[in-house]
Order: sequence, then C-alpha cells, then structure tokens
Amino acid sequence: MPLEELASVVNARAQEAARFLPVVRRLPLVLVEGRGARVRDAEGREYVDLTGGWGVTAIGHSHPALVEAICRQAGRLMQTTNLFYTRSQLDLLERISPLLPAGLTRSFFVSSGAEAMDGAIKLAHRATGRVRYVSTTNSFHGRTLGALRIIGQAKHRDPYRALLAEACTVPFGDLAAARAAIDEATAAFVVEPIQGEGGVNVPPDGYLRGLLEICRAKGALLILDEIQTGVGRTGTLFACQHEGVTPDVMTLGKGLGGGFPIAGFFCTDAVAKTVSLGDHGGTYAGNPLACAAADAVLGVVTEEKLSERAAELGGRVMDRLRRFMTENDSRVDDVRGRGLLVGMSLTDAERAATLSLRAAEAGVLLNVTAGRVMRLFPALNIPEDDLWPALEKVLTLV
Ligand SMILES: Cc1ncc(COP(=O)(O)O)c(C=O)c1O
Repeated sequence: MPLEELASVVNARAQEAARFLPVVRRLPLVLVEGRGARVRDAEGREYVDLTGGWGVTAIGHSHPALVEAICRQAGRLMQTTNLFYTRSQLDLLERISPLLPAGLTRSFFVSSGAEAMDGAIKLAHRATGRVRYVSTTNSFHGRTLGALRIIGQAKHRDPYRALLAEACTVPFGDLAAARAAIDEATAAFVVEPIQGEGGVNVPPDGYLRGLLEICRAKGALLILDEIQTGVGRTGTLFACQHEGVTPDVMTLGKGLGGGFPIAGFFCTDAVAKTVSLGDHGGTYAGNPLACAAADAVLGVVTEEKLSERAAELGGRVMDRLRRFMTENDSRVDDVRGRGLLVGMSLTDAERAATLSLRAAEAGVLLNVTAGRVMRLFPALNIPEDDLWPALEKVLTLV
C-alpha cells in the first residue's frame, strides 16, 4: 500500500495541519519506535534508517547503554541550576577532555548545535574584540539568529536578513578566497570540516591547516563546526584530526547525545582567558540528564571503536557507490565523503526530489540534500546485514 494512504498518516497530517506551525514538509510516516539502525512506523512497517536520525543516532536508536544511563540519571537528578556542581557534568568533562584535539582545554555544554555556534561566535568576539565573521558558501550552522549570521545558504538567511549583520562568505575549499577575505577586522573564520547540509562537500587536503595559518597571521580565530562531522562520523573522533589541526574553538552536537539534546563548544586556554563570569549560561546548560547521555555515548563510541569502524565501513560503502557510478554514469555524477558521511550526487534533479519517498516505500530512510545529493549518515554501528541490502535497494531507485 502506498505510504500516503496509511490511516495513521492521514490522521497525523490532519492533526498537524490544524495545530502545527507550517514550517516543515514531512514524509508520510509516523514513527513510533527505533532499535539499532531500524525504525518502525505506526502501521508496524520497518525501515532501515540511513539518516541516523539526521546524523544523531551515532550508536543506533535506543542503544541499551544510552537508555540505561538516561533512566539511571532520570531516577536520580534531572535538573538543577548552574549554581551547583553535578556529578554527571563532571563525569562528562572527565570523559571528553582527554578525547578533544590537544589544546582544546575548556568545555561548555548547551542543548542544540545552533546554540553551540552562538557560544562559539560570542567567544571569538570576546577573544578578539572584533565583529566581522567570514564563513563559506553553502555552509549550514543552525537557525538561531547567531547561527544565521554566519550561515552560507541564502534560503535560510534571506528571510531574516533585516535582523542580521552583513555576512561575508567565500567558496568552500578555496584557500586563496579565504586569504583574501580574512583581514585584521575578522573575529573568526567559521567552517565545517566537511559540509554536510551543503551537499557532503569535502575540501582539498590541507584546507584546515591552511585556514589556521591564515587566521594566525591576521589575529582571527578558527572556529570548526563539527556538529555533523564530530563523534566518530568521518572515521576519526573529530574530522579536524585527519589534518592534525586544533582550532581555537570547536563545536559538537548531534551524535554527542545519541538522540538526547546536548551540544557543546570547546576552546583553548587562550580563548577561555578572555571571558568573564556571567558571559554565558542557560537554564539547561550542562543539564544532568543530557550530560549522562553524552557520557554514555562517548563510552560506547570509544570502547566499540566506532570511529575506526566508520572509516573502514564508509570506505567500502564509497567503493560500492563508485562502482555503481562507473556503471551508471548517466545517473550519478559524483560520490564523495569520508567515513560514514557519504554523498552521491544524482544527475536528475526530478528523480532526486522523489528519492526519499520512493526509498521509504521500499523500506529505507534516506536524505537528499542540496537538491540532488543523496546523503547517507547512518548509525556508526549499523549492522552490515541492515546496511548492504538497504543500499542495494536504494541503488535500484536512483
Ligand atoms: C554542521 C551543522 N552545524 C550546526 C547545525 C545545527 O544544529 P541544531 O539543529 O542542533 O541546532 C547542524 C544541523 O544540521 C549542522 O549540520
């Protein structure tokens, strides 16, 4: 039966149409359950989730260690104020600090990626006293006003242009353009190590190192947005580790909580020295439940060596997709990515526009971004028995 006709979908659609802010277009599925790399809808149909809950469920849906950590913490202490220390935030600090790129010594936890970007932007202003930011075309950094200030996608920025400072964006991956744009008034260059939302765009080798050198020469900070690429996704715990680069500020989100809303920003001692008491905060900043979740996720990612797995398995996925491209060069014009953040660019934008729905009807959830790029970012521990049949199914639909 086509998904459109399912009773739960018809009801959900009517309910939302009456009550929900009309800002989201949804696929016609009502999801009720997730386990590992699979989710189930209200009609009992099962799907292999190649979106990983938008790159979030790094250790799979409802991993027992994550569920156990959240339940344990929920039974102890769910919320307090920033007036007090909490054991779970201290535990998370102990867990994450040795894992961070050497030199990032200070952490702050918030609830969403965009909030983490706001924090990073504030830090760069504090550290430099400057107000100009340079970012990259097609970048995505979230939807708060702070994040929109640096976003490189007009469709998100333009409706709020009147509220935002003038933006400066340069082509992603282009060091010469970055060099020309970063000046003595620049607070920071802000960039994703690999653009996710923008189409899984991988920069040339040496890009991040080159950016760091340019920023150093101009007294600007380098902010790396690892919200999508962090926590093992690209085959190292953080994507900047491929180049051995430590930024001044790094942000994490998505996979950090494995499904529980937590994000963070991390900086060097030199940057941390420039803030004052009260400069930042938040009711849910460092929330005990969120910290317990992140602590559990990082435990699983490191103990089960999921970064290494992402590198190895992602390499084989990319090999398979490249072989498909060679055999179907009229349908696919590029395959790119790193680890388990993989993009395949389709030649036919109309087919790309319906691919997610057709894949869902075949029992696979996937995302198409930047118009015609099929983006795969499944759980880092997705069983191969789920992954390969799902991928083969999708390839028949491309
Ligand atoms: C690279 C990047 N930065 C920031 C964000 C915003 O994160 P959130 O949606 O949690 O605010 C996203 C979300 O997709 C992202 O991919």
